[in-house]
Amino acid sequence: MPLAINPILELPFTSFMPQASSNAQAEFLSHLEHGGILFLPNLGFEFAPSETRFLSPDWSDGQSKNIYLRGNNRTIKGAKGNVEELAAMSALIERYSSRATSLIAHLLPSYMPHAKLANSSLRCVEAAGRITSWRKDDRRLHADAFPSKPTAGTRILRVFTNVNPQNKPRVWNVGEPFADMAAKFLPKVPAYTPLQAKLINALGITKSLRGEYDHMMLHLHDLTKADAAYQANAPQMRVEFPANSSWVVYSDLVLHAVLSGQHMMEQTFHLPQESLTFSAASPKNILERLAKRAINC
Ligand code: SIN
Ligand code: FE
Repeated sequence: MPLAINPILELPFTSFMPQASSNAQAEFLSHLEHGGILFLPNLGFEFAPSETRFLSPDWSDGQSKNIYLRGNNRTIKGAKGNVEELAAMSALIERYSSRATSLIAHLLPSYMPHAKLANSSLRCVEAAGRITSWRKDDRRLHADAFPSKPTAGTRILRVFTNVNPQNKPRVWNVGEPFADMAAKFLPKVPAYTPLQAKLINALGITKSLRGEYDHMMLHLHDLTKADAAYQANAPQMRVEFPANSSWVVYSDLVLHAVLSGQHMMEQTFHLPQESLTFSAASPKNILERLAKRAINC
């Protein structure tokens, strides 16, 4: 089934320091917070000649699907290589991270005092062929929620850039509005129990106590991915992000599935609820409206 509203807002910028009027910035903010995608078809990320060697899945350590720098501790993870190679990979990812930060600062300046830098990654594994469990299978429609990392209501904003050197697009399906998905699946989410949250935290399954909001988000993530009929029949739209294009999205709000693509860079930002302008459109407020009560983070 097609989507009722096209979620893509195309922006012509060619620089990670785009100059936009304050009216335009307000439009970008509203579009994003209401579940749209900012698509920059002319915004690629340049590799130095000495860096193109890193466009290969061979640098993966085999454990992790991405090579990444953590938000706080910027040591490189998921990669193999000698000291020089790891330092060069790290510098490449760090440069992308500062470009992505500059992009947010220019498109969405009101976020800058609040945006917290999270992981930065280089993703060179072909997305179509990754063999994973259904829960980790990002080829199925889902809104992002992670089992070990409770967000406590903090939002997940992501900048992506397709860096494929063979002009191969990254192909996504973008799903229906979060509220429509949640209306279908929230009744199936089991009741939250603080005792279970304490237990899984004591066992080290979560890095901090998982509150009811993260409990719901994680179950919605799993319920949508596990439901083959939903995957096949839910409203969705195929979107191709060409090589040398970028896009910005709240991945906890926008249902997405990656169908194919290889070589992408990504920067995650965490935004506290207080930094939102349209908090009524946030997953937490949507869930509270559906549940008809307050939800603790
Ligand atoms: C994701 O599901 O968050 C990953 C999307 C992608 O790899 O393109
Ligand atoms: Fe995802």
